[in-house]
Amino acid sequence: MARITIEELKAMKRRGEKIAMLTAYDYPTARILDEAGVPIILVGDTLGMVVLGYDSTLPVTMEDMIHHTRAVVRGSQRTHVVFDMPFMSYQSGIEDALRNAGRALKETGAQSVKLEGGAHMAETVRRLVEVGIPVMGHIGLTPQSVNQLSGFRVQGKTPAAAVRLLHDARALEQAGAYAMVLETIPAPLARIITSKVSVPTIGIGAGPHCDGQVQVLYDFLGLYPDFVPKHSRQYAHLADEISQVVRQYLDDVREGAFPTAKESFAMDESVLAELDRGSEEALLDEFRSLA
Ligand code: KIV
Repeated sequence: MARITIEELKAMKRRGEKIAMLTAYDYPTARILDEAGVPIILVGDTLGMVVLGYDSTLPVTMEDMIHHTRAVVRGSQRTHVVFDMPFMSYQSGIEDALRNAGRALKETGAQSVKLEGGAHMAETVRRLVEVGIPVMGHIGLTPQSVNQLSGFRVQGKTPAAAVRLLHDARALEQAGAYAMVLETIPAPLARIITSKVSVPTIGIGAGPHCDGQVQVLYDFLGLYPDFVPKHSRQYAHLADEISQVVRQYLDDVREGAFPTAKESFAMDESVLAELDRGSEEALLDEFRSLA
């Protein structure tokens, strides 16, 4: 089955069709999302926080991303899979960006990469696109710069910062990015940026006027207990549900209610009868002859 292409994603913007993107990090969730019809799965470097338990995305490595993206590609058939370039896999120079983005596509089967940064990353984006690597940009709150930004704060609130973000968006579009994430910026600014660029904007904490939305799967499922961002909506409370069923399991094992005959394997009655008749020595001989 052919996967959704960047041209199909761009056409969705032209048709005014909203793009619903989610993150995923493993095979079973990728399968569920793909079968439900999610057009883009981002294997985000949020992996570092929601799956690996780091307090930022900075420690995530290329190897981590490759490992998880392969699983997501194996679990999906139709969805477009985006590989999120981890911290310092592209900021250190265009050659590093080319080498690592090339690895990302070659070693995982993902269809495009995402990287953070606006105008200052435009040349890198241009070179990647030139060699055939589709790039999704990411501006606004860029978590890999959390230390420079002094925390996870709303971006683009002053006139100068808003103009800078618009300039960043245009620079990415001109460099050939096929889409861009707008993270944690005021909704009216996201609306302006969305109307000024021809490629899809995918918002997270950027209001309803973007061409699409992305949510971090573990926030969305209520599976990440440490922090619930203001911009996420919990469509489920899986942490609570998991905790409840684990307690049930503990009780069942302690009380002998699990397993029952339904979860056990039976044995032929005649073999059992033979076992009952045989002496211990004869039985041992029999087992030895089977070994
Ligand atoms: O890593 C990630 O999950 C992301 C999204 C928040 C857009 O970059």
